[in-house]
Amino acid sequence: MQKINAAITAVGGYVPDYKLTNAELEKMVDTNDEWIRSRTGILERRILKGEGKGSSDLAVPAVLELCKKRGISPEEIDCLICATVTPDMVFPATGNIICDKIGATNAFSFDIMAACSGFLFALTTGTAFIESGRYKKVVIVGVDKMSSIVDYSDRTTCIIFGDGAGAVLIEAVIEQVGILDSLLKSDGSGSKYLHMKSGGSVKPSSVETVLAKEHFVYQEGQPVFKFAVKGMADVSFELMQRNNLTAEDISWLVPHQANLRIIDATANRMGLPKEKVMINIQKYGNTTAATLPLCLWDWEKQLKKGDNIILAAFGGGFTWGATWVKWAYNS
Ligand code: UT7
Repeated sequence: MQKINAAITAVGGYVPDYKLTNAELEKMVDTNDEWIRSRTGILERRILKGEGKGSSDLAVPAVLELCKKRGISPEEIDCLICATVTPDMVFPATGNIICDKIGATNAFSFDIMAACSGFLFALTTGTAFIESGRYKKVVIVGVDKMSSIVDYSDRTTCIIFGDGAGAVLIEAVIEQVGILDSLLKSDGSGSKYLHMKSGGSVKPSSVETVLAKEHFVYQEGQPVFKFAVKGMADVSFELMQRNNLTAEDISWLVPHQANLRIIDATANRMGLPKEKVMINIQKYGNTTAATLPLCLWDWEKQLKKGDNIILAAFGGGFTWGATWVKWAYNS
């Protein structure tokens, strides 16, 4: 029997209209455009405004877009995996809510939490479902409404994050294309540098935790930066080596958009010139689980069948990883 591969066959994305610029942040905290640009590469990020709106509201248009592009009904989806750290509610899974909103009545769905690496972890999980032969159409969503957990009086974090969603459809193929290899890693000892202090089972929400601002992202930027540079570069390089891929073989690097300096370090380690690196951090900031699919969404028209693409991420946990995709279609 021929081996089944899982191939990305459609991409969807969504970012809210509101643009939070560096100029606006200058009025909110003690920061300046020059510092933000030079330290992170970010010029603006998108923010979901409006009462009662959550991550599922970002994800729904992204998933509907990919269904439209592929010409399928949501009822044809077998499984939807949602990667997020900002679920609509602690439970149920946001994946369940997305499926309900789009009418994916035949899909089972669940969430994966691996912070900024969530999309890669979910993609790798979905790939195994497809490769098993049991499921035909799996949707992978990366979504975060980071504005819901960012303290807009903390200049060290509020300048970084934005809201957005990206989604891909993966389907079974027997060609040698699709998601061909993944290398995923995690190390929970890194949790002390990047976490949310309260609202979990260790320290449930209380008046005190709210007053102490413990429901926001807590990040020690410098250690996270050091681990991210090493983690993302090492894992990408290892993935290339174990698949005998040289820099010339690779058409695109799709890196997690956390900091332009981390992206540059990863590309350098892989020997890739800037023209081969997808960078949209300047317009969306760090959208956590959504950065990778949003890159694919922005670049989809430039991708050609057979292109070798390396997706790489690093995030809270710590979690990190890289995935080799041979692109399966021309737009
Ligand atoms: O996506 C999940 C994983 N997260 C990441 O990968 C993020 C990794 N970390 C980073 O990207 C960077 O560490 C940051 C962008 C968060 C910070 O950049 P940095 O170059 O590491 O700055 P720093 O924390 O070392 O701070 C340098 C200085 C400090 O002032 P002093 O102590 O030197 O006087 C900060 O207080 O910059 C100050 N600072 C700011 N100044 C103006 C920190 N934030 C700001 C700000 N505007 N927004």
